[in-house]
Amino acid sequence: MPVAEIGRVAEFVGGEVTIRGWLYNKRSSGKLLFLLVRDGTGVIQALVSLADAGEEAFAAAAALSQEASLEITGAVREDRRAPGGFELTVHSLRPIGPSEEYPIGPKEHGTEFLMDHRHLWLRSSRQHAILRVRHEVIRAIRDFFNDRGFMNIDSPILTPAACEGTSTLFETDYFGEKAYLTQSGQLYNEAAAMAFGKVYCFGPTFRAEKSKTRRHLTEFWMVEPEMAFADLDDAMELAEGLTVFIVERVLERRRADLALLERDLTRLEAVRPPFPRISYTDAVERLKAAGHPFEWGGDFGAPDETVLAEQFDRPFFVHRFPAAVKAFYMKRDSQDGRLALGADLLAPEGYGEIIGGGQREDDLATLERCIEEHALPRSAFEWYLDLRRYGSVPHSGFGMGLERTVAWVCGIEHVRETIPFPRLLNRITP
Ligand code: 4AD
Ligand code: MG
Repeated sequence: MPVAEIGRVAEFVGGEVTIRGWLYNKRSSGKLLFLLVRDGTGVIQALVSLADAGEEAFAAAAALSQEASLEITGAVREDRRAPGGFELTVHSLRPIGPSEEYPIGPKEHGTEFLMDHRHLWLRSSRQHAILRVRHEVIRAIRDFFNDRGFMNIDSPILTPAACEGTSTLFETDYFGEKAYLTQSGQLYNEAAAMAFGKVYCFGPTFRAEKSKTRRHLTEFWMVEPEMAFADLDDAMELAEGLTVFIVERVLERRRADLALLERDLTRLEAVRPPFPRISYTDAVERLKAAGHPFEWGGDFGAPDETVLAEQFDRPFFVHRFPAAVKAFYMKRDSQDGRLALGADLLAPEGYGEIIGGGQREDDLATLERCIEEHALPRSAFEWYLDLRRYGSVPHSGFGMGLERTVAWVCGIEHVRETIPFPRLLNRITP
């Protein structure tokens, strides 16, 4: 008997097939049992009757409880009224693993309870929809860069120094020396861009963020492209292209998941180029004009970003921040030395910053001064300075946070549901 994934059961209509999965739900109606079986690719309704299945299989089906695993064989029919659109008339049934008192049921569970049972919560339909969107976003990201001539050069996770400032480093012991989990692959990416021209890295990054917000994880995934011979505008153009590509791809391939999440599609359909580009100084003026107090010189917090985002129907860039609030590697604006050539992409609907990046300082003496001003250990950055000693060129790049992007695309409240096993300020289990 052919074994089929439920997602491909349409190919077997009119024939017999074997399905392996888990019991999602069960109800009975007179002498019939309706099993809802899931296998990760879909859900199918399986009809068990004494006449078709025989006494033993019928009794086994009646004894199944939620999330028990099983194998069923039967005839496939199309049935528009059945969940998933197909029905299987069961001829034989084999229980595999029992499941006693499965802790997650249809009733309301609190978030902490669900997070404690994340290993089981992953089986529910909402989590499926979100993680399928995540999977699609990852694929879209890789396709986007691979199709545009970017080399994938992954950066190390264990590193000897900070990239994004020292306050959020996770420290570990490296054979008697201090090492840190990477906050960003950027510095290594810059070396790779000098070797290959256009590169990207895509992996987990770590920040000991003390913030307990709906946007912060301590372990999150970031895709970081870096381009030689590129300026701030080139970085913004690439970020815009990537964002549009991701949203289009999810709209094209994951509509059913977005529907399950009750995502307002008109908000995603509005994500078209060009994205507005406003300077930091302009953004501060906009905040003040909106009656939202803000002093020039500070970094934007979530409430500031939300006020700004209300003014746009699509993602928008804020560029040229005060250098004092940005990382050491940012190139100064030649028009105004107080400013750094950085840009953030803010998502609409209050999702805040999903991309941060810009043009890097390519002048050796200036970069040496910046390292000193930020009180960073010079010796750890000697290799990075080499990139300015040997054929330095203007170069730019950015980092896109995967989980924030997925949360925005899905329209969900918190990033904790966008990663299989979230790491948060107060949580490292399961
Ligand atoms: O703006 P960030 O800190 O930029 C960098 O790390 C640059 N070195 C990247 C580069 O230019 N190559 O972080 C980039 C993005 C943010 O816009 C946000 O989407 C995400 O990473 N991010 C987080 N996501 C979840 N939890 C956190 N704690 C995050 N911190 C940053
Ligand atoms: Mg940032």
